[in-house]
Amino acid sequence: MNPIQVMAIVGTRPDAIKMAPVVLILRDDPRFRVRVIATGQHREMLDQVLKLFQIVPDEDLQVMTPYQTLAQITTRVLEGLDKALQRYRPDVVLAQGDTTTTFVAALAAFYHQIPFGHVEAGLRTYDKYHPFPEEINRRLTAPIADFHFAPTERARQNLLREAIPAECIWVTGNTGIDAVLWVAQQPFEPQDPALKRFFAHTGRTLLITTHRRENWGEPMEGIALSIRDLLDALPDLLALLPMHRNPRVREVIQRVLGDHPRMILTEPLDYAPFVHAMRHATLILTDSGGVQEEAPAFGKPILVLRTTTERPEGVEAGTAKLVGTERACIREEALRLLTDADAYARMAHAINPYGDGHAAERIREILASRLV
Ligand code: UD1
Ligand code: UDP
Repeated sequence: MNPIQVMAIVGTRPDAIKMAPVVLILRDDPRFRVRVIATGQHREMLDQVLKLFQIVPDEDLQVMTPYQTLAQITTRVLEGLDKALQRYRPDVVLAQGDTTTTFVAALAAFYHQIPFGHVEAGLRTYDKYHPFPEEINRRLTAPIADFHFAPTERARQNLLREAIPAECIWVTGNTGIDAVLWVAQQPFEPQDPALKRFFAHTGRTLLITTHRRENWGEPMEGIALSIRDLLDALPDLLALLPMHRNPRVREVIQRVLGDHPRMILTEPLDYAPFVHAMRHATLILTDSGGVQEEAPAFGKPILVLRTTTERPEGVEAGTAKLVGTERACIREEALRLLTDADAYARMAHAINPYGDGHAAERIREILASRLV
């Protein structure tokens, strides 16, 4: 019997992290023949992850340009995937999450009338511009998808409300939890001097990531100023901020925080060091989606630098709190957690509301039962 031809499409760092467990498990199974197409929406940040998981894309569309616009990503990825789908004619196309690569992958598959599987389906804020453009990327992907791999029951309920047929939705857990648990088990020794300093620090530590489009400009300035306030308020506090490659992010971060002696600004960390940095940090501040899923697994309190989240499970479980982007608000919430042991203890408990580490296996079996 011919193996099922799967095309997995990735473009950004989180796409690659969350698709890697699926690619690896399908690659080892003779029922499948999996090809990986990288759109190259990201470059260095994508390549880091593919290298870690030893995934060599069958094709790389290399679409990234500095200061790229959403329309540029959309049109370049659509044209590139159109050709790739014509060439390979897979039986099923897979993409994950909410990036523009993902939405366009669904659209391209639809134009070729090829079934589409959406990994991490059903996340919603129901706020059109938060996160931007991810909320709409997800919502536009849903009606195209034939397989909806929902990470949680809540995500399944969101899809049901949008009239997605129940028999096309499976609660699999998030493949990002498969990835993070795997990486956390690997031995790790920091090499870089800046990272050595962070891991050797015995006082309080802060880990920060920020990149969201809706936080560009003034909100990101508020975030950066609040971190400066925290460093000034607590003399033993050491902060690590691996800077997203986006120049719009770096301009603000470097200007406000670049000269502080207890602020470590680095290139984006490879996934393994980043996971270990999460485990070492006293507190995490982030506007990332994936980090909101990973931090609870390690029992780390997390302040979410956004006003809405499509991942409310961590907030409900009490390990995450939405604090927005206002300087005073972030400073007060973070100071409380860093100085009040009871407040900290109430948030610091390990939970895994987003998955149990076996999502990719479930996806493999669903594809096999439907397509073999
Ligand atoms: C993208 C996704 C976002 C996801 C994020 C994860 C869209 C619209 N946005 O946002 O959903 O949360 O990735 O990080 O799909 N750059 C580099 N090298 C890299 C990556 C980015 O130089 O490896 C720079 C380039 O100048 C690029 C810019 O960052 O133009 C922005 O990249 P882009 O993919 O458009 O947006 P992100 O903000 O990274
Ligand atoms: N991450 C990483 N290095 C870093 C920062 C984050 O490997 O320096 C990982 C993080 O563990 C998570 C993912 O990147 O798995 C999140 O990516 P990002 O915040 O860029 O995107 P989002 O999840 O917001 O879409």
